[in-house]
Amino acid sequence: MSNAKRVLLIVSGGIAAYKSLEVIRRLRERGIAVRCILTAGGAQFVTPLSLSAISGDKVYGELFSLTDEAEMGHIQLSRDADLLLVAPATADILARMTQGLANDLATTALLATDKPVMVAPSMNVRMWTHPATQANLASLKARGTLFVGPNEGDMACGEYGPGRLAEPEEIVTAVERFFQSGSRLEGLRALVTSGPTHEAIDPVRYIANRSSGKQGHAIAQALADLGADTTLVSGPTSLPDPERVRVKHVRSAEEMLAACLDSLPSDVAVCAAAVADWKVAAAANQKLKKGDEGPPSLTLTANPDILARLAEPGAQRPRLVIGFAAETEKVIEHATAKRQRKGCDWILANDVSAESGTFGGDDNSIHLISADANESWPRMSKRQVAACLAERVATHFESRRA
Ligand code: C5P
Repeated sequence: MSNAKRVLLIVSGGIAAYKSLEVIRRLRERGIAVRCILTAGGAQFVTPLSLSAISGDKVYGELFSLTDEAEMGHIQLSRDADLLLVAPATADILARMTQGLANDLATTALLATDKPVMVAPSMNVRMWTHPATQANLASLKARGTLFVGPNEGDMACGEYGPGRLAEPEEIVTAVERFFQSGSRLEGLRALVTSGPTHEAIDPVRYIANRSSGKQGHAIAQALADLGADTTLVSGPTSLPDPERVRVKHVRSAEEMLAACLDSLPSDVAVCAAAVADWKVAAAANQKLKKGDEGPPSLTLTANPDILARLAEPGAQRPRLVIGFAAETEKVIEHATAKRQRKGCDWILANDVSAESGTFGGDDNSIHLISADANESWPRMSKRQVAACLAERVATHFESRRA
């Protein structure tokens, strides 16, 4: 049982709380261990005794319980599980999660956790469609919270519409799929470039761009989350290193290319870095002085194109080479030409015109262009783009294996 996956199930107050018993039963049938937190509202609909009997474990409810804290501190409770599942999730708990409140054991565990969180909302249709709930939903999604449901149908309150808790079987399938997803890229190696590059003018000055590295870092994390052995070659950013990813920090395009070549062989390469097109032909060894001669004139020379270099045919070429195309106009036309020019397999084209808010922002609108397809993805967060891309990469390699 030690390798069994563990779910911390948070049951919040709602008429659908009784369905959590069925969720627990079916999770346990699939060998998934379940421990429960029951909110004060949840306890109005289902008893700790029934949750405890079905889960085969103690049920936690009090934030300030001396006995509970002595046995299992709330921080450990939130980290002991592989997944936190909130089912049913009321409008209230979604709002508290969005705000980062920690005013009971459930929200404290949700705030303290370092594990993925899945939410199965359940509420009246008006509460679900209310702009406040929809805004909360959007922020939680952008933070990477996973959602299952709600479904559309008759409600206990007599109304009809979206807001019904997803069926226990759907919730359990989503949990199972989540646990399986961790191994879809197992055995494959991934190389990702991210961030800007800094091209030295002298030891203290450099030419750079405004790339944040958010998209590249999220891609490295998403590939690692699917089990790929991932190397991230990152230019200077203020982002933390992704988890379970080998990170090589570089400054210039030349260093980035060398680190990439050093990381081969790789099955997939994703070039998301905003590599400077030019470098200073002869960077000064000493700091340039503000002399009488006036401002220095800098002669620029082209940087290596890392994407094109990785996509060159050869024994070391990754089987799937993916680049980005940031365009301000004629996005698809320009990106299609770029795919051919660079020799890569896929291009993710995004609109970075001033009005799109993509550069440095949290969202991206992507078109995936390959030799035989051109798809437009809905506008989504950079984390979601990363998850979608990792998913597509997994499907690509699975179809090759089949
Ligand atoms: O040519 P352009 O900069 O528009 O191409 C963008 C794509 O090429 C991105 O995937 C970027 O990471 C990659 N690139 C690169 N090395 C360069 C320039 C761009 O890898 N020197």
